[in-house]
Amino acid sequence: MITISIISLKGGVAKTTTAVNMAYTPAAVHNKKVLIVDNDKQGNASKAYKRYSTEDRNTIARVMLEKNINTAVIIKETDYKNINIIAANMDLLEANLGTIVDTGRQQQTRFKKALAALDYDYCIIDNVPDINMSIINALVMSDDVIVPVFIDQYSFYGLEILLDQIAQVQEDFNENLFFDGCLITQYQNNEVNNQGIEQLSKQRVPLFNQRIRRTEKKVSESTFAKKPLVEYSVRCGAAQDYKKFVIEYLEGEDARSKV
Ligand SMILES: Nc1ncnc2c1ncn2[C@@H]1O[C@H](COP(=O)(O)OP(=O)(O)O)[C@@H](O)[C@H]1O
Ligand SMILES: [Mg+2]
Repeated sequence: MITISIISLKGGVAKTTTAVNMAYTPAAVHNKKVLIVDNDKQGNASKAYKRYSTEDRNTIARVMLEKNINTAVIIKETDYKNINIIAANMDLLEANLGTIVDTGRQQQTRFKKALAALDYDYCIIDNVPDINMSIINALVMSDDVIVPVFIDQYSFYGLEILLDQIAQVQEDFNENLFFDGCLITQYQNNEVNNQGIEQLSKQRVPLFNQRIRRTEKKVSESTFAKKPLVEYSVRCGAAQDYKKFVIEYLEGEDARSKV
């Protein structure tokens, strides 16, 4: 199983949109088995796959809190044959606090111990814009990190801190953790965007070639329809871009596995 963390310290950069759409293509087109892990107490990825409930006590929070958790209880089927999900809700807030005070068991490896041996081709983790214990858990379990970037005047906010954190997890827990690069989302062909991209390139931050175009109407409609954009509106710009992005990602993954 290849585990991918979608992460950024900024909100609204399309982490969830990327996770939700990245899960769909390998499952629907390439017949791969995909597990989505919602690691955000807002539960937006769970909502996108219609598996969100404030009353749900079988969420990712249990993985943080309970030793030897039976994963069959917390993994939910979605409306899509090859996509399952571990949902999140506000329970995750308390689970993070509970984990910090529970020093009797290693705090950073709880996701890994419970989930790493599951039988999926891909596990995609959607994260909250923060650095907390469940995010460290996500990184400890991950093979790949993708950082969505929305170019505005605060584009680079937190990027350095995040890269430091990734390096720290690599050093302490997971030498296989690989920072694939930044993915430009909500791209518009204007001066601000193009200057921002130039600035990122100068900082030698790895960037995916494929950008995701801003396609306001369809993205918001797909959220209301509770469907991945790539299913809801195959022909819209962002959907096509997400499909191409997944191909670029898979080709990179394939090339690395052959080295
Ligand atoms: N390519 C896009 N074009 C237009 N709107 C987008 C696009 N990607 C995301 N959005 C919108 O931007 C907002 C933030 O996206 P979201 O995925 O929830 O970000 P995050 O998870 O990083 O907070 C949402 O309202 C979403 O519908
Ligand atoms: Mg989100």
